[in-house]
Amino acid sequence: MAYLEIQRRSATDDLSEVKDLLAGVERADGVRPLSDHLWIDLRQGGRPGFAGLLAWIPGHDHLVAYCQVSRGNDSWSLDLIVDPHHRYDMASIGPELLDAAIAVISQEGGGKVYWWVYEPTQLHHQLARGINFELGRTVTQMRVALPLAQDVVSNTTAIETCAFRVGTDEDAWLDVNNRAFSDHPEQGGWTKDILHSRQQEPWFSPNGFLLHHIDNKLAGFCWTKLHLDTQPVLGEIYVVAVDPDHAGKGLGRSLTVAGLQHLALLGTTDGMLYVDTHNTRALGIYNSLGFRAHHQQCAFVGDVH
Ligand SMILES: CC(C)(COP(=O)(O)OP(=O)(O)OC[C@H]1O[C@@H](n2cnc3c(N)ncnc32)[C@H](O)[C@@H]1OP(=O)(O)O)[C@@H](O)C(=O)NCCC(=O)NCCS
Repeated sequence: MAYLEIQRRSATDDLSEVKDLLAGVERADGVRPLSDHLWIDLRQGGRPGFAGLLAWIPGHDHLVAYCQVSRGNDSWSLDLIVDPHHRYDMASIGPELLDAAIAVISQEGGGKVYWWVYEPTQLHHQLARGINFELGRTVTQMRVALPLAQDVVSNTTAIETCAFRVGTDEDAWLDVNNRAFSDHPEQGGWTKDILHSRQQEPWFSPNGFLLHHIDNKLAGFCWTKLHLDTQPVLGEIYVVAVDPDHAGKGLGRSLTVAGLQHLALLGTTDGMLYVDTHNTRALGIYNSLGFRAHHQQCAFVGDVH
């Protein structure tokens, strides 16, 4: 039986135990656990609805598992991370942590919950059934070698872009982003606070946040992110979107290529992005640019009352 500690963090708390666990999992799996949203919530701390659940087992001086719940715009995200040396304990620690996490969400008013899992096993499916969650969204991480092949670039209309101006472009960007992602659980419904939280991240660079205007109005954007802490250094298309009024004219492809060319100029040889498997329009662009699937992450989804 694990001993659980529930923390409602503030930004000044010591995160070393959780960071050590995350680093161990990253070494074992080659992929950083915790989605971007959950990671920022952990690092910046103090947001309403946040809870970190830490599991200890007597006789072990390190954290054996960590579960985090974070409130999104109109749903919750949940992540469960187990020390690679304690994965045989998952069948007992998992239900305990998940039940405690569900109880936290229920106390906070409940709602739709997404539990993200990197390449789920039978045990994950079993744990999900135990809390009445069903397999929902699947996201594919795709990668492409950079710089892009010359024929790909010459088959794409080059467009003019400019860098995001912090303090000026926020409202126009939020308008386009929220309309383009109106039905997206994480990328839709952004507020200035959420945008500011991303602008405070060490990787944020206005020069890598490309905007394209038509008649002086924002028509689309490609926001890139350079992962200096990965091996190889990954250049991510973090968010790309086109104003729905300008959809279907080739801007999505042009903006993605502009973002990848920017990343290639910074020296990265590996382009990367995440895409929902049902986003056929975006997948069409990425496949034709040479992106190929690297791995998948799935979300088990449930309603908590
Ligand atoms: C995805 C998105 C950026 C594409 O931008 P766009 O300017 O509309 O797309 P493009 O005009 O460049 O072309 C898209 C391609 O999809 C094809 N396409 C268009 N509608 C499609 C549909 N409903 N299903 C499948 N393919 C479709 C087009 O024919 C085109 O293919 P082609 O280059 O071989 O001709 C835009 O739809 C968008 O902002 N969506 C919401 C945000 C989003 O999902 N972003 C991506 C997150 S990973």
